[in-house]
Amino acid sequence: MTDSESTGPATGPTARPSSGRRALEPGIQRDFSQTMSYGGYLRLDLLLAAQQPLSDPPQHDEMLFIIQHQTSELWLKLLVHELRSARDLVAADDLSPALKRMARVKHIQRVLTDQWSVLATLTPSEYAEIRPFLASSSGFQSAQYREVEFLLGNKDRDMVQVFKHDPDAQSALSALLAEPSLYDEFLRYLHRHGYAVPAEMVERDWSVPHSLSPEVVDVFAGVYADPAQHWIVYETCEELVDMEDNFQQWRFRHLQVVQRTIGGRVGTGGSSGVSFLRRALDITFFPELFEVRSRIGA
Ligand code: HEM
Repeated sequence: MTDSESTGPATGPTARPSSGRRALEPGIQRDFSQTMSYGGYLRLDLLLAAQQPLSDPPQHDEMLFIIQHQTSELWLKLLVHELRSARDLVAADDLSPALKRMARVKHIQRVLTDQWSVLATLTPSEYAEIRPFLASSSGFQSAQYREVEFLLGNKDRDMVQVFKHDPDAQSALSALLAEPSLYDEFLRYLHRHGYAVPAEMVERDWSVPHSLSPEVVDVFAGVYADPAQHWIVYETCEELVDMEDNFQQWRFRHLQVVQRTIGGRVGTGGSSGVSFLRRALDITFFPELFEVRSRIGA
């Protein structure tokens, strides 16, 4: 047993305090009448006033429901910020910092996926008490979720129509619809750097989702056949695959939580519910990066 593990009275420089109270150091700021405080910087007055349960009589679990959605929206905001930047860096031929952005994106995605376990504590009976107060609102109407999808390449003009009631969201989404996605910019990067990406992949109507190109599969087959020769491109391919993998895991956990909460019932947004969500699992952002895998080692 070392000294620090000893159960006897503590002595010396690593001694533990004998009382439970920690005295405030003299240098610690206590007066924020003239200087920036924590709550002031973070606008906690706004943030913490935004949880406004509607249930009447009040339902204990509505706070969980609201905070789970609001925290998801905050993380989605950061995802949009990082993905936009990653895309713009790829467009500027700056792959190394773009990879740094993608690494952060992957961590955010993991937080978003892990946090489903908190909402999974909501039982069907508890949700049923809240559901009438949600009316027709649904995560399906999350503008930031669509922005993330558009940035990754799952473009859908019909989704823009859902935001007629919110002109700011609608114009942000319309703008992203018309711009290249992160993957489009990666294909353009490859084209600029001498890879045989077809010309119609680098100038096209960006509002239409990218569809599988056999020529692009050939390009990636060459990269995966000799990773050392194409290291930064190879690394970017794998970062993209990780991001899609993480996105699918979020979709799947959402599906599972929905299934255990509402079973086969329709959604508040009007869809068939679980079966509608299950169809999203077939959507791929980067088809060639998955197709190329059947060629490796063949
Ligand atoms: C118990 C909680 C939840 C239930 C029962 C639920 C249910 C559903 C259902 C049934 C849909 C399909 C559209 C509809 O008819 O409403 C949907 C879509 C969606 N929900 Fe949830 N949801 C829950 C929590 C969440 C949370 C916490 C988020 C986080 C932002 C979220 C985000 C989304 C998104 C982004 C979609 C669109 C998915 C797509 O288009 O494939 N949901 N949800």
